[in-house]
Amino acid sequence: MSRLDSFIRRLEAQRACLDHAARLVAGLDGAVLELGLGNGRTYDHLRELFPGRDIYVCEKKVAAHPDCVPPPERLILGDMRETLPAAHARLGGRVALAHLDAGTGDAAANHALAAELMPLVAPLLCAGGILVSDPPFGHDELEPLPLADGVPLGRYHLYRRV
Ligand SMILES: C[S@@+](CC[C@H](N)C(=O)[O-])C[C@H]1O[C@@H](n2cnc3c(N)ncnc32)[C@H](O)[C@@H]1O
Repeated sequence: MSRLDSFIRRLEAQRACLDHAARLVAGLDGAVLELGLGNGRTYDHLRELFPGRDIYVCEKKVAAHPDCVPPPERLILGDMRETLPAAHARLGGRVALAHLDAGTGDAAANHALAAELMPLVAPLLCAGGILVSDPPFGHDELEPLPLADGVPLGRYHLYRRV
């Protein structure tokens, strides 16, 4: 598979999983948390999926498309390994959907970051809250869920807080 095909499939899987997760949390109250703004593509999609919800964004250095920069009161600026503990007071148990896409092309670094984030992200989810993640996550309070239809196992990851 060419790198272009691989990239397209990843984005299709990402969108399918976000759309699926939006349906899963339709009956849950709570905020949305984007972990890694990047150029703001998935943040923009989340805005479309959740027009009525507060969407918080963690990002260490904003370099997004100008139309996709979150309002300052919902931007949690800095390294999320340092900012998430403080965000707990505001968001602990209040997040219905979190999306982690903070990686680079370095799979080992992505897994290492995910391991550091697990204990910080899981407690932010409300009961039944969903985590959509590119790297796999392992946490006692998170149960893996089937992916959206048509998304091959392992291409993206979905979890629900028990
Ligand atoms: C792959 S991009 C996100 C792409 C985004 N989902 C999109 O669709 O445009 C990853 C982002 O995560 C951010 N990031 C990576 N590690 C981080 C950390 N420890 N704390 C905060 N932001 C981080 C990077 O700065 C980068 O902007």
